[in-house]
Amino acid sequence: MRIPIIAGNWKMHKAISEARTLASEIVQKVGDVREVQVVLCPPFTALYAVAETIKGSSVELGGQNCHYESKGAYTGEVAPEFLTDMGCRYVIIGHSERRQYFKEDDQLLNRKLKKAMAVGLIPIFCIGETLEERKKEQTFDVLRKQVTNGLPGIQADDPSLFVVAYEPVWAIGTGLTATPDQAQEAHRYVRDLLAGLWGTDAAETVRIQYGGSVKPDNAAELMGQPDIDGALVGGASLEADSFAKIVKHK
Ligand code: 13P
Repeated sequence: MRIPIIAGNWKMHKAISEARTLASEIVQKVGDVREVQVVLCPPFTALYAVAETIKGSSVELGGQNCHYESKGAYTGEVAPEFLTDMGCRYVIIGHSERRQYFKEDDQLLNRKLKKAMAVGLIPIFCIGETLEERKKEQTFDVLRKQVTNGLPGIQADDPSLFVVAYEPVWAIGTGLTATPDQAQEAHRYVRDLLAGLWGTDAAETVRIQYGGSVKPDNAAELMGQPDIDGALVGGASLEADSFAKIVKHK
């Protein structure tokens, strides 16, 4: 039984006071939900305020990125231990915006995943193809490369502590969504890849979220697919009402 996980990726939005307000509204609306794991991923600067606000609720905290070392001369970076110190249980690794704008490649992401897991964080490992790749029918090739190059040396000893997010790049922030069939097909493919690496039982335990223009009106259909175990939500997570509707989509 996979417990669905719905995470709000606030990206570079919400200063501290706004973050406190949004987190507190979300706690009011879904702070006692247990059948879905709800995770908020505010910017680093608001993590502490959000950690304080969600205390005592079922909502969990995640970072949007982290470094692969514990400390050192890495100006501007954040160690994964700093995230656990803030109360984070999760960290997004390899979001397409990190891959695209900050040139994070599979090898770097592999180091980040290993380190994050070593300190007890649950990674939300993002993969997905661009529009051009989909048009050229390279979707499966891209997903296979991202998975096989991202995961060497990673053993999911407890596969419930590893999350994959399939986010087709062309669906992020565009209002375009993969159809439920397209998403299901990609999710099944990714689960089969994981089965090849970790075995069937582990692959059937890993949660695979869909991300890319998830909204209250498409959440139920997407998450109704057999291999879609939740959502990674951008724009619609910046407003408590729409995020709560996605969480309570059933
Ligand atoms: P949108 O929901 O705004 O398309 O963003 C998706 C995303 O990138 C979540 O990580």
